[in-house]
Amino acid sequence: MESRVNSDPWTVVAERLGTDLYLDLQPDPTETARGRGARRRQSLASALREAIDDGRLPPGTRVPPYRSLAADTGLARGTVAAVYQELVAEGWLVARQGSGTRVADTAQRTTAPRLTPASSSVRSAPRHDFSLGQPNPSLFPRRDWIAATRRAVTAAPDDAFGPGDPHGHPALRTSLAAYLSRARGVRTTPDQIVVTTSVKSALELLSRTVFDTTIAVESHGLPFHRQAVERGGTAAVPIPIDGGGAVVDALPHSVSAVLLTPSHQYPTGIALSPTRRTAVIEWARTSGRLIVEDDYDGELRYDREPVGALQALGPDAVIYTGSVSKSLSPAVRIAWLVLPPPMVDTVVQAKGIREPDASVVDQLILADLIDTGAYDRHIRRSRQFYRRRRDVLTARLARTGVDVPGIAAGLHAVIPVPADIEPLIAAEAARRDIALVGLSGFRHPDVPQESGGIVVGFGTPSASSFTTDVDALLDLLADYLPNRRLRAE
Ligand SMILES: Cc1ncc(COP(=O)(O)O)c(C=O)c1O
Repeated sequence: MESRVNSDPWTVVAERLGTDLYLDLQPDPTETARGRGARRRQSLASALREAIDDGRLPPGTRVPPYRSLAADTGLARGTVAAVYQELVAEGWLVARQGSGTRVADTAQRTTAPRLTPASSSVRSAPRHDFSLGQPNPSLFPRRDWIAATRRAVTAAPDDAFGPGDPHGHPALRTSLAAYLSRARGVRTTPDQIVVTTSVKSALELLSRTVFDTTIAVESHGLPFHRQAVERGGTAAVPIPIDGGGAVVDALPHSVSAVLLTPSHQYPTGIALSPTRRTAVIEWARTSGRLIVEDDYDGELRYDREPVGALQALGPDAVIYTGSVSKSLSPAVRIAWLVLPPPMVDTVVQAKGIREPDASVVDQLILADLIDTGAYDRHIRRSRQFYRRRRDVLTARLARTGVDVPGIAAGLHAVIPVPADIEPLIAAEAARRDIALVGLSGFRHPDVPQESGGIVVGFGTPSASSFTTDVDALLDLLADYLPNRRLRAE
């Protein structure tokens, strides 16, 4: 048996309780022996109450026999027994013959459990979840990731476990250069790639380094990306979007760069027209300005060959960025910038002398996934999964006379609704616990609202609930678009 002679009695108590439990029992050395005994008894009682109250001792947990607790703590057996009886009387504990003393199932909580996150950050899953910004979690290639981890960690040289290179690990940059050129037509060498944790962090970095005072952004986009640019010290002014994507003729002279989502405008889903693709490259080249291409879901195309990256038309004028947030998971935290060569040093230096955020181990795992083809297989599986969903959603809507504009791509769709109805639908959706967003949530604050829309992330619902979720969505729309036959059939 392990010797406990020198161990801290409260550590032993914790062990006995089967949890890493800290019971704060601090005797006051100035007290008399008698006073000290009474104080320790109170102290043990309140420490146990507190541990039950804040969830460290969950209902049903067996507390140690009082003899052992007495021996471990140096308290008299009678003292511990009295504390247990007191807590039984108060309803914190239950004592049953033959099964010892346990935390009561009904132990009353007076405070929120300390171990759960603050209530403001707790989100229970909505009943019908069409939220945006993440792929379906059931698709995450867990087995491939585990296998890649085993291979990558086994093969990694020792220096992979030192501080990371802010440029990004060469293995990942090499894999990405090959992948982006093969899958998206990007023209790059590994040296032009800089690894970051997200498109958001890439934008912040660009704002601190290569953007001037003002850049142009599409009239609708991700608010937190716009804010990332602004946090870096750059103002973001809007340009309109129409059926051909961003209206590049409207780019103001005052901007040094434009941030575009040319393959699939976010969130409207429109692809930048071929004439505008050429025109914007021309605009950048002739005036020494920059285009930032956010290719957030470039691989997720369903009806035709993907539109290649705009970067291929002008690698000297386009900064290309993307991440695994849509293809794998936003929890992985790996993204990339493909920079024109003269910018690489400035951007890498701005990151500091070590990689500040992106895990080098995860970079090696992603490199392995790409090199072994597991990443491509995962993308192909994801495409099929989302294409089926998109087909179901658009077919159900089309039967009722609602067309989803934009190309068939990505993980979300915009359902057009009159602008004045949009906030009513969004409010009623919240009441019915349907997670979706109104198009105006993506509008630049300086842009007046013209058309309305409901943006639904059709990738998010679980497989078991997708049909019911779509029914709930159609029922909601039917209440606000009464001329359409939208009711679930
Ligand atoms: C338009 C757009 N760009 C980029 C991303 C990826 O963002 P990040 O890499 O910051 O997670 C998303 C994900 O929601 C997006 O919607």
